[in-house]
Amino acid sequence: MTIKEIIKKFPSEKNLKTQTRPYFNHSIEFKKNFNAEERAEMLEKAGLNVFFFPSVGITGCDFLSDSGTTTMTNEQWAALHQGDESYGSNRGYFILMQKIREIFGEQFFNEPSIEKPNAFIFHQGRAAENALFRTIGQLSKNQTIPSNGHFDTTQANIEANQIKAINLFSSELKDPNSTSQFKGNMNTEKLKKLIQESKEKIPLIYLTITNNTGGGQPVSLKNIKEVSEIAHKNNIPFFLDACRFAENSWFIKNYEEGQKNKSIKEIIKETFSYADGFTISFKKDGLANMGGGLFIKNTGLFMKKYPQIPDELMNYQILTEGHPTYGGLSGRDIMTLCVGLETITKEEYLDHRIKQVQDFGKSLQEKEIPILTPVGGHAIYLDVNKFFQGTKMKPEDFGGIGLTAVLLATYGHRACELGNFAFGSYNPKTKEEKFPEVNFVRFAVPRLRYEKKDLDSVAESLKELYEKRHLIPPIEVIYGKELSLRHFKARFKFKK
Ligand code: F0G
Repeated sequence: MTIKEIIKKFPSEKNLKTQTRPYFNHSIEFKKNFNAEERAEMLEKAGLNVFFFPSVGITGCDFLSDSGTTTMTNEQWAALHQGDESYGSNRGYFILMQKIREIFGEQFFNEPSIEKPNAFIFHQGRAAENALFRTIGQLSKNQTIPSNGHFDTTQANIEANQIKAINLFSSELKDPNSTSQFKGNMNTEKLKKLIQESKEKIPLIYLTITNNTGGGQPVSLKNIKEVSEIAHKNNIPFFLDACRFAENSWFIKNYEEGQKNKSIKEIIKETFSYADGFTISFKKDGLANMGGGLFIKNTGLFMKKYPQIPDELMNYQILTEGHPTYGGLSGRDIMTLCVGLETITKEEYLDHRIKQVQDFGKSLQEKEIPILTPVGGHAIYLDVNKFFQGTKMKPEDFGGIGLTAVLLATYGHRACELGNFAFGSYNPKTKEEKFPEVNFVRFAVPRLRYEKKDLDSVAESLKELYEKRHLIPPIEVIYGKELSLRHFKARFKFKK
């Protein structure tokens, strides 16, 4: 009997309950050893603000962000050495041009020596956003940019340029009984109403894929197409905030009716075919530690409506970042990004990535810890209101801040409050707090960094914390309550 005949007698490896990772460790870093008391001291010094907690003290998992925290592949490390640090038109720039065209569409990257520039590299996403909103802000007064959920710094960049930012969350996102797989969608009824009321004031419509502020939830292809059609029918350009474009495409392929036979690459192409432009942070689905960009479709409505903007953008980019052919990135960063973009669209990578986050969610659900479901692509969102149900915690006690502080000091895991404190605001005149629609603690899972054991340990820690949640005291804000983007800057202490 041949070995080929023998293997047919055994069940396929694909049927195993536990699948191996599609990669192995290439290089690892040992953590430092700190105990709970030492971590508590470090956190006290940081005014209980997890952003100021030294990362060397994190003995568990660091879920502060999935942005720029990826473990690079050996191919990316190798590409780093091929970085060309020339001041203009470095080798990587042309490879990146090719990759952007291949993945998102030819029309998003003109050859700058012969055509009008429409592709602008920046050092990270928010720099690209600021460039875009700054030039839009100069068009006229009282403008509004609607979104399915603006990210915090995106919203801040819009508002810093005197434009109003509006979130049109889907009704499913707020419905605890909804089993929709695409809670990240934009509420198109609300969008139509907004357009009816103030069409002339909307310079563009923005859709974030996946919807980070809206619980990291994906957006369906149907919704992307519908928003694009509504926008274009009303002569309004349509843009994507495309940070997690590959993860969003995985959800479309796996959960949206009629999409499963398309490849990830086909879904990405279709997604971007509806857009007139996009901003992106390559620190997420660029699988890079740094990088961002703004790409405008050369035949799109934005380019037709605002033909002067590309020149203004280029001037601004040269003033603040550098020549458009490196745009604030070193040649080696560009090279790692080119390789990262190739890896991110691979189905075996995405399958593993999203199932890891989903499994993490399942283990929390099994322990009855209240999280937003279905789980999105890059993070687990713990429902703070439900977590503290049955305790004396009030919204103005910022339970989410207390929870992250106790979790970090006791178990060494760093998560981030994205709720009543981060998205709320304080009015010094009325002395009142205004609370947002969502109140989460987010566990953003870095790409290719942790193993199942790490995440299981976090689930166990959270279970302990959940059972003793009544022991987490209310928070007092000792600095920064009234500041904008206050979660990055504030300091806290426990009451009593
Ligand atoms: N848009 C979205 C949807 C984001 O999630 C982020 C960053 C940005 C824009 C800005 O990109 O950081 O490169 O300037 N999100 C990170 C996070 C920081 O933790 O969610 P950036």
